[in-house]
Amino acid sequence: MTQEVTVLGLESSCDDTAAAVVRRGADGRGTILSNVVLGQDELHAGFGGVVPELAARAHAEKIDLAVERALAAAGLHLGSCDAVAVTAGPGLIGGVLAGVMCAKGLSAATGLPLLGVNHLAGHALTPRLTDGLAFPYLMLLVSGGHCQFLRVEGPDDFARLGGTIDDAPGEAFDKVARLLALPQPGGPSVEACAAGGRATVPLPRPLLDRAGSDLSFSGLKTAVLRARDAAVAAHGGLPREARADLCASFQTAVAEVLAEKSRRALALSDVTAFAVAGGVAANRTLRAALEDVAGAAGVPFVAPPLALCTDNAAMIAWAGTERFDSGAFDDLSLAARPRWPLDRAAAPMLGSGKRGAKA
Ligand code: KG4
Ligand code: ZN
Repeated sequence: MTQEVTVLGLESSCDDTAAAVVRRGADGRGTILSNVVLGQDELHAGFGGVVPELAARAHAEKIDLAVERALAAAGLHLGSCDAVAVTAGPGLIGGVLAGVMCAKGLSAATGLPLLGVNHLAGHALTPRLTDGLAFPYLMLLVSGGHCQFLRVEGPDDFARLGGTIDDAPGEAFDKVARLLALPQPGGPSVEACAAGGRATVPLPRPLLDRAGSDLSFSGLKTAVLRARDAAVAAHGGLPREARADLCASFQTAVAEVLAEKSRRALALSDVTAFAVAGGVAANRTLRAALEDVAGAAGVPFVAPPLALCTDNAAMIAWAGTERFDSGAFDDLSLAARPRWPLDRAAAPMLGSGKRGAKA
């Protein structure tokens, strides 16, 4: 039996200003009492990506409102919470700072303990909130900013088994959408367009020839650019069928590479389940491929509901409940970190994308 714990969580590391209240019962199961996300899609729509300065300002303006709404929706006052958890990195530094400053203010004013949470730990621990998964399990994080395989061994214990050496898959979907004049975010529009096409365009399967579970997506995007130019040269424009075939071919390539690398990570990791998180996990072709891989390995496949796969504060509050028992609280010296690798033993990742540093 553990103690019942109620935590207010704050998230502002990319383009969602979010606050949530999560309670972990004495039986160890989590309940989301509220989950407020104030998105910034309209703010960045004209720029083809997240503009860090605009994001930071919007977070600073809206984070109080998100907290107010989360507490009201949970029917609680701050005084009924046991701690305040906040994303302290990795992410766009201005946004992370806005959340950390707000959480410090709340903690200083109320005396509630402060917990600085790693955003990636929030994603990685979500299957314990939604499905009560036991450690250890394999997590594939696939979003616009992240792509890595983690063996999740404890609330603060992660082994990184591989990850992208350049773009994240969501970034690749977004760039391919731009190349093909499809709307942003690219993932859903490429998936919709692919539904009318056939995967007949030959595209590379990057890094499949390299052992292990590292991935690369930037060459794939360049290959789509070349194939598009060839189609335009052949037809004097890009016919609808050619565009659909390109989308289907790209999506198949991403799904095949992620499935094969997942198969390898699973073979190495001796885990009880395979879980995914991140916006790209919404892709049906990818989900089906990953589910097959889990089935072949004889472990359950867990995909949290989409609203908890994408950025949110419930995952930060939950990670806070997991840390609470250790008594390892932060104080007002808590720093906002643009980079914060989960696995301290792993080699640092290369590069940094539009959505911030790769962790
Ligand atoms: O996790 P998320 O909401 O935000 C972060 O990147 O942190 O993921 C957003 C990414 C975008 O790049 C978007 O294009 C991609 O997830 N995405 C998809 C799909 N839905 C969203 N990619 C492929 N297929 C989808 N159906
Ligand atoms: Zn995220």
